[in-house]
Amino acid sequence: MDSSRYLFMTGPTGFVGSNALRHLTRHSAARPWSAIKVLVRGETGAEQARALGAEPVRGDLLDPSPMLREVISGARYVLHCADAAWTSSYAEARARMDENLIGAINPHHVARAVYVCGSSYFGASEDAALIDERTPPRPLGLGPAFGAGLRALRTAGERGLDYVAAFVSGVYGPGSWFTRQYLHQLEQEQPIPVLEPPAVWPYIHIEDCVRALEFLLTLEPAKLETAGREVILTDDTPVPMTTFIEELARVTGRTARLERLERGALQARLPPFEFSYQSANMLHSNARLRGLGFECKYPSVKEGVPALELARR
Ligand SMILES: NC(=O)c1ccc[n+]([C@@H]2O[C@H](COP(=O)([O-])OP(=O)(O)OC[C@H]3O[C@@H](n4cnc5c(N)ncnc54)[C@H](OP(=O)(O)O)[C@@H]3O)[C@@H](O)[C@H]2O)c1
Repeated sequence: MDSSRYLFMTGPTGFVGSNALRHLTRHSAARPWSAIKVLVRGETGAEQARALGAEPVRGDLLDPSPMLREVISGARYVLHCADAAWTSSYAEARARMDENLIGAINPHHVARAVYVCGSSYFGASEDAALIDERTPPRPLGLGPAFGAGLRALRTAGERGLDYVAAFVSGVYGPGSWFTRQYLHQLEQEQPIPVLEPPAVWPYIHIEDCVRALEFLLTLEPAKLETAGREVILTDDTPVPMTTFIEELARVTGRTARLERLERGALQARLPPFEFSYQSANMLHSNARLRGLGFECKYPSVKEGVPALELARR
């Protein structure tokens, strides 16, 4: 096969990216790319990539070298799973990384670029209605930081770039930040502060998340033209956060010590960033994803959490 038809992927050492890379290299289904090149910043990442049969490319999206720009512009497919570190300069770093990547893509050569960000871009529901891609966004938490990348993507789209913006909801699985946090609290029998009534969250199992990313990389362009290139990745059923925690507790044989607090008390307890997530009802819909033809293997956390096989870990 033509060796110039490679997939270039960022973030292969992160939670979403490492699972995506394992998925894309494990299943040998016919794929339209001939090889996978992955962006890494260190030798450990390079070794992990080689072990999976991918070719590591050393570089940094904050300061891409001419060689890195060349690799990006030569890619036939792009999957952008890198994320900036969660520091006070997150928004600035994320914008720079996104703009550098998108600016280096050659819209006339690439067949599809999938940009991964968070569904927190759409923010909280004002009422019980589901939020979809047509709802005016009200970004919360990390959400505002995706604005620069989305603008760059839409501008590149006007110049002919075939792209998808994937707005991923709360991805759960071993290694996801909130799954890890709750498992630790359950193991230590610590009280877990939650809003009363609990905030409703959109969730997606990591396996469905990476399956959906592959689906979007290879979907026929005509379907995206009709449906829209901005797609929320979430399962069929947003649920109260307490349902997720209680499901984790059930499958690990622990007891969840939920500390149910009214809004003001929770706000006083948590850092502002965490409170913004913990208090937001995010009734995000996967109607567009389903309409494009994707079906979640785990329609809700009730099916997905037991499938993580946490009890045996
Ligand atoms: N995790 C979730 O629950 C979740 C939920 C919704 C949406 N998302 C979205 O999914 C995407 C991936 O998130 P994640 O949780 O998988 O992130 P993550 O675990 O923090 O991984 C970040 C990745 O980006 C790489 N990276 C960081 N700075 C870089 C730079 N300057 N140049 C090149 N690579 C760099 C890291 O490489 P190093 O190993 O070198 O640091 C790592 O591979 C993000 O867009 C995020 O918004 C995640």
